[in-house]
Parts: sequence; structure tokens; C-alpha cells
Amino acid sequence: MNTIIFGDGNLGRAIAAALRETGTEPRILGRPATNGRHVPDALGSVDMVFDASRGDAVLTNVESALAAGCRRFVIGTTGWDADRPAVDGVLREAGASAVVAANLSVGAALFLRIVERAAALYGAVDGFEPYIVEWHRRNKRDRPSGTARELARLIVAGEGTADDAARAGTADDAARAGTADGATRAGELEIAVVRAGSSPGMHLVGFDAPGETIELRLTARDRSAYAAGALAAAAWLSAASRSAGCHPFDAVIDEMTQRTLAATA
Ligand SMILES: NC(=O)c1ccc[n+]([C@@H]2O[C@H](COP(=O)([O-])OP(=O)(O)OC[C@H]3O[C@@H](n4cnc5c(N)ncnc54)[C@H](OP(=O)(O)O)[C@@H]3O)[C@@H](O)[C@H]2O)c1
Repeated sequence: MNTIIFGDGNLGRAIAAALRETGTEPRILGRPATNGRHVPDALGSVDMVFDASRGDAVLTNVESALAAGCRRFVIGTTGWDADRPAVDGVLREAGASAVVAANLSVGAALFLRIVERAAALYGAVDGFEPYIVEWHRRNKRDRPSGTARELARLIVAGEGTADDAARAGTADDAARAGTADGATRAGELEIAVVRAGSSPGMHLVGFDAPGETIELRLTARDRSAYAAGALAAAAWLSAASRSAGCHPFDAVIDEMTQRTLAATA
């Protein structure tokens, strides 16, 4: 099997290490030397592509791999939302499928589901105020993280308060989180962002009432969880014929949990 990883950084190397443990030796390619585009003929006949490069490279990487015959993609790269319709279009045109995930960790996917359920429960009773704290390495570019934004969206939706619009706004305004002066405004969802050291990712969701606090915490110790999720997505693509276009990581998680729950029922 000819497996290519686009992106020779932290994530690409973690995926390569996980693949080697399963006996697959991938080719790992960094930024192409010419025109920012990988030459399809030089890729050979490609069975599976993992993209762990840069947002502005995803569309051309997918086009090159399609021209090299690849029909299965796992795209973990972030920051290419504007190109999403174009990527979906070229995949569909070629009859190819991709799993696309801003967070490939299975634990994170389950954490989002747990938080969604918790927000509905705490939102159904009076007196609990939610908050989010996230901590990543010093040089992470986005603030708050994509996962923190998704957590905020789920909490706001789950609570179903009349202040939805104001609180959803705080997820987008949260670039100033952790630096704004003064008290949190009534109805706002507090998101505190820490950018220090080398943490690969910590997200904490709390629900605080006058006499008690509940905290749910997801801690990534290294990038192996993202790599394991990337391999699970590849296995999902290989296990059956999937429809053409982009699929969310949730589809992989759905199948994984349903299979396990059915086996233990
Ligand atoms: N989905 C997830 O769970 C998850 C987890 C971690 C990270 N990520 C995302 O995955 C991406 C990579 O993360 P990272 O931490 O590995 O970043 P990184 O350490 O900066 O590595 C990215 C590498 O890709 C190279 N590159 C640029 N253009 C390329 C191209 N056309 N083809 C192949 N490689 C190319 C870069 O080279 P240059 O330095 O020359 O540009 C760089 O060496 C980011 O978008 C990040 O946000 C996603």
C-alpha cells in the first residue's frame, strides 16, 4: 500500500510513527520545492493520503494526489475553511472520499459529546454557570483553539438560554479572553486561554454553582492521540465504500461506538 503523508511537522511525524507500528512505511513529504505543488507523476500510484501540512496547501495537495490516483484522504490540517467547497468539489468529481477533522483525537470527540450532554443537564436547572479554560503550547497560532470554540458552541446550544446570541458571541470575541479587564458580563461564557510552555492541549469545562463545582477535563499528553484517530479514520475509509466528498470525524466515531455498544449489548 502506497501511503503518503503531506506535512513533515509534528503531526505528520506522529502519524508516520503510528503507521510504522502497524507495519506500513509511509512516504512523508514536506513543502514541495517547485510552485508549491507536488508533481503527481512523482507521487506514484497512491492508495491513501494523510494531510498534515498547512491550510493554504490542502487544495493543491488534494488535487495532486487525485491526479496520482488516490481516492482516500484523511485531512487533519486546519485553516482551510475557505477552500472547503473547492476541496469537496474536486473529491466528488473524482469519486473520492475524505475524513476531515480539526481534532482527530477519539478522546476529544467523546469529550465533545459528554460536554454537550452535561450542558443540557446543567442548563435544565438553575444556578450553574459554565466556563472554559484551555492551555496550549506558547506558539500555537489560534486563540481560542478550534476545540474550545466548538465546546463554547455546544454549551450555548445545550443550555438553550435566552442569551444565546450574546453567549455565542463570546466564543468569537474570545481572542481577548484571559486579557480583558474586569468582571465577566452577565450572560457571557467565560473562556480563559493560556499559551505557555509546550502543552499539546488541555481543555477544561466547568459548571459552577454557589456551593459546588463540576469540572470535566481533557488532557492530551502528546500527539499520539491525533495519530491514532488519523489511523482510525483511514480504517473507516478502507472498511467500506464511502460516498464521495468530505465526511466528518463524527462518522468514524459513530461507527466505532455503535459497533462496540452493539457487541456489549
Ligand atoms: N486534526 C488534528 O487533530 C490536528 C492536530 C494537530 C495539528 N493539526 C493541524 O495540522 C497541521 C500541521 O500541524 P503541525 O503541528 O504538524 O504543523 P507544523 O509542525 O508546522 O508542520 C507542517 C509542515 O507542513 C509543511 N508543508 C507546507 N506546505 C506543504 C505542502 N504543500 N505539502 C507538504 N507539506 C507542507 C510545512 O513546511 P513549511 O514550514 O515550509 O511551511 C511544515 O513542515 C496544522 O494545520 C495544525 O493546525 C491538526
